[in-house]
Amino acid sequence: MFEFANYKIDSKVILAPMAGFTFYSYRKFMQMFGVGISYSEMVSDHGLVYDNKQTIAYLKTDNLEHPFGIQLFGHDSKTINGAIDIIVKEKIACDFIDINLACPVKKVTKQGSGSSLLKDLDYLKKMMKEIIQHSPFPITAKIRLGIDDEHLNFKEVIQVLQDLGVKMIAIHARSAKQLYSGKTRYELLKDIKKDMTIPLIVSGDIFTLDDAIYALKTTNADGVMIARGGVGNPTLIRQINQYFKDGTRLKDADLDTQKQYCLTLAKMMCEDMGEEKAMRIFKSIGPKFFNGFKNSKNIRVSIASKINTYNELKSLVDSFQIT
Ligand SMILES: Cc1cc2nc3c(=O)[nH]c(=O)nc-3n(C[C@H](O)[C@H](O)[C@H](O)COP(=O)(O)O)c2cc1C
Repeated sequence: MFEFANYKIDSKVILAPMAGFTFYSYRKFMQMFGVGISYSEMVSDHGLVYDNKQTIAYLKTDNLEHPFGIQLFGHDSKTINGAIDIIVKEKIACDFIDINLACPVKKVTKQGSGSSLLKDLDYLKKMMKEIIQHSPFPITAKIRLGIDDEHLNFKEVIQVLQDLGVKMIAIHARSAKQLYSGKTRYELLKDIKKDMTIPLIVSGDIFTLDDAIYALKTTNADGVMIARGGVGNPTLIRQINQYFKDGTRLKDADLDTQKQYCLTLAKMMCEDMGEEKAMRIFKSIGPKFFNGFKNSKNIRVSIASKINTYNELKSLVDSFQIT
């Protein structure tokens, strides 16, 4: 249990921000399994300030997701503060604003945003100070170990952010150069909590309960983020929380349960964004519910390539059996 943004967080699992995944209905679905904190996918400060309708759509929430944070990316405190003003004006029920200092994607780093902000700590300090002074919401940050192996400056970054008044830090235990592959390096975070007074969340390669046990025990972090490992496997959230409550190892979900989860998420997405868009996006999520089941290749390929309506999905899922 830890405290954050006036909430007592009674879950070890934080839903990671993921562009293209952590939209409103995906978060609502994952919250049913016991997520402690959720984030929006990353939202461009420019997109909000220049009234890009698609960007404003990323802010969708109800008044029931708590604590819920909107993650902004940008590199100029003025524009980021302008985006925060819009979040206030639109009366978005968010509990905190997270600043993305982690994204390694070229489109983001070439404008000086995301992980490229880890390069110049004087600039980062000035930018974050101006955001913290302006924001009516608590500010948090998501970082990486550093830019590359020669610049693993996470200790310094964490200290700087904490001293400025950042309220929680999530760290993806890879360098930006590693992108999303290569080994996560939790061992480097072994002693980091000792110098921290704010919650620490760790992220990277959490696909099984044992991955989460290793990450949490090695780092002593307050929580672990699930990202790719939770897509199609929401039971992972319950497995992690149950284990840290009483040591029980819950089984993986069986096929019938996975079918039901798959259809529940698809239905929630249809209600959230309309059937056509939902089923288009579902092509990259739905197949994952059947990973690891015998003879599931056909259903996975069909969901990814042939399904256009909820009813088509339901017939396909209902008829799938392990032979
Ligand atoms: C498709 C995808 C989109 C992501 N989008 C974001 C994002 O918008 N903001 C962010 O801070 N991290 C983002 N991430 C990084 C994740 O939050 C997480 O830190 C990373 O995937 C490592 O966790 P994993 O190895 O368990 O997936 C994204 C990752 C993926 C795979």
